[in-house]
Amino acid sequence: MRAILATPALVDTELPVPTPGPHDLLVRIEAVAVNPIDTKLRAAVREGDPPRQLGWDAAGVVAATGARVSRFRVGDPVIFAGDVSRSGCNAEAVLVDERLVGRKPARLSWAEAASVPLTGLTAWESLFERLELDASGERGRGSSLLILGGAGGVGSIAIQLARRAGAVVIASASRPESAAWVRELGADHVVDHHQPLAPQLAALGFEVVDHIANFSDTDAYWEVMAELIAPLGSIVAIVGNRRPLDLNRLKAKSVTFAWEFMFSRSQFQTADMGRQGEILDLLAELLEAGELRPTLGRTVSPINAANLELAHTQLASSSTIGKVALVGWG
Ligand SMILES: NC(=O)c1ccc[n+]([C@@H]2O[C@H](COP(=O)([O-])OP(=O)(O)OC[C@H]3O[C@@H](n4cnc5c(N)ncnc54)[C@H](OP(=O)(O)O)[C@@H]3O)[C@@H](O)[C@H]2O)c1
Repeated sequence: MRAILATPALVDTELPVPTPGPHDLLVRIEAVAVNPIDTKLRAAVREGDPPRQLGWDAAGVVAATGARVSRFRVGDPVIFAGDVSRSGCNAEAVLVDERLVGRKPARLSWAEAASVPLTGLTAWESLFERLELDASGERGRGSSLLILGGAGGVGSIAIQLARRAGAVVIASASRPESAAWVRELGADHVVDHHQPLAPQLAALGFEVVDHIANFSDTDAYWEVMAELIAPLGSIVAIVGNRRPLDLNRLKAKSVTFAWEFMFSRSQFQTADMGRQGEILDLLAELLEAGELRPTLGRTVSPINAANLELAHTQLASSSTIGKVALVGWG
């Protein structure tokens, strides 16, 4: 089968098709999406290291199943982000534990579907498991949520989920085109993250906000988050800090701070790891019902090392709007 390896240069190669373990699906890959984790893990590969098969966002068709698989059959169209401790999805056939897999939303193209899992899981877990917003929207309607990094992959789906949950969403975007994108996705207000946030929020009538979802640099926003969060509010962050964070800044207001890492469940094989498959199925239902919009911004074809390099370069610019996906093997 064809595969792309990071050596760290990206190279097209041929590898044997892997054999499923008891809980695994072997998925024939139709499309993959790229995420900053790809470029971060690629940067960790040094010349002479074992090459790494990157990619943790995929849509494809089940080609074989392990002995204990119960949720899927050969021929089922599926989506998954998978497990960062295993080989990624940049290959024609990939293994994934069925508990991490959801069904492909029927209405979506392969590229649109491949753009859902990693960011969809991150946004869902951030909002509904860490910040404890109510996914049904019945409880907590009208609470204010500041999303830092609104037009990126995670922000684009989070804005929609938060609006559906009844939150008043203030999304950050710094360019006319990214501001227009977050408004289209349903943001109630837009602020520019390259300008001081407090006066912009005050002008919109918010001295503080109930929740903050930081989908950008945790260190850079620590002080401003401590200022802007409401007493008893909650903050979620998804990007690891490079410097010590002063948690005392949150104590007087009794603020809850939570990390979200969407690979925690798979990495530690938590008892509820199958929740990720369930979340993907819930996202598929919402996308099929038209209650969520696909977040795909750009498609590149076919899937090969040269096109993956293009996608990585675009991602590294930190100016992507929505997601970038690669489709078909040519
Ligand atoms: N913990 C996890 O499980 C997890 C999961 C997914 C992603 N992540 C991490 O979260 C980060 C975001 O991921 P992503 O996929 O959403 O990235 P992305 O799609 O590459 O984000 C691009 C967006 O970042 C915005 N941006 C650039 N500089 C910013 C700043 N100073 N403040 C706020 N936003 C800024 C840009 O908006 P403008 O063009 O408007 O400036 C752009 O639209 C990455 O570091 C990624 O590794 C973590």
